[in-house]
Amino acid sequence: MLKVVIIGSGNVAQHLIGAFQKSDKVELTQVYARNTEKLQHLHGHLSVTDDFNRIAESDLYIIAVSDDAINSVSEQLAFSGRLVVHTSGSTAMESIDSKNRRGVFYPLQTFSKNKEVDFTKIPVCLETEDPSDYALLEELAKSISPLTYSISTTQRQALHLAAVFVNNFTNHLYTVGNDICTKNNIPFDILKPLIWETATKISTLTPVEAQTGPAKRNDTTTLQRHLDFLQDDNQKAIYTLLTHSIQSKNG
Ligand SMILES: NC(=O)c1ccc[n+]([C@@H]2O[C@H](COP(=O)([O-])OP(=O)(O)OC[C@H]3O[C@@H](n4cnc5c(N)ncnc54)[C@H](OP(=O)(O)O)[C@@H]3O)[C@@H](O)[C@H]2O)c1
Repeated sequence: MLKVVIIGSGNVAQHLIGAFQKSDKVELTQVYARNTEKLQHLHGHLSVTDDFNRIAESDLYIIAVSDDAINSVSEQLAFSGRLVVHTSGSTAMESIDSKNRRGVFYPLQTFSKNKEVDFTKIPVCLETEDPSDYALLEELAKSISPLTYSISTTQRQALHLAAVFVNNFTNHLYTVGNDICTKNNIPFDILKPLIWETATKISTLTPVEAQTGPAKRNDTTTLQRHLDFLQDDNQKAIYTLLTHSIQSKNG
């Protein structure tokens, strides 16, 4: 059994705790949290500490704390020469203190504490400074997901950026759509089948092939009517920018 310690008590830490607890290939030795109350529900089931000097000996340590705290947390670890990884999409592996062997275990999904996720469908992007550590990290990832990828820091940062476009920006566009619906007394639910179809379509078509709409058709009459309809300057700017982007991509 692989022995693992998780450091952190936020969204990612709590989902990883749940996933590793279900795995018969991993022994979750301990969880470190600076505020152990956040893990109250685990007391009795798991060893929890708020003391860096009492972190248990393990094969692997996962730092799942805010990006800007990764470096200072790694510096406070009271041991050296062990494999320590972080879970961040946008932070360099080198931000982990070099006294330990370093790596990255980045689960490419959006996590919120009260929303269940199915780890078997989550890609895990892996990187290790020392190639001989890769097999161990991969073994850990495979214990919760079959989807593991070797991804360098530069690739991971690009991936994180791409994820902002396909997840955060898309979700913001749902908010714009919701605002337009609300303003016109239309239930947002009416758009949900279209949202599902748009998302699932890219499992069989490339995003460029799946693109439809007035910008792709260069339907200038509809484009102008939409711009006239919009009163919010921010929404007009988004509409114009995305229209130009679609048109330049589709010739
Ligand atoms: N959420 C996602 O969708 C997602 C997806 C993939 C990767 N990630 C990455 O996973 C990591 C954790 O993200 P998250 O969403 O779990 O964050 P989060 O929910 O905001 O939790 C952050 C955790 O870091 C702890 N922390 C912050 N500063 C600390 C410090 N100086 N010392 C000790 N602990 C500290 C917090 O402790 P307190 O609770 O006491 O404040 C909390 O347990 C980040 O690197 C993030 O980029 C997040």
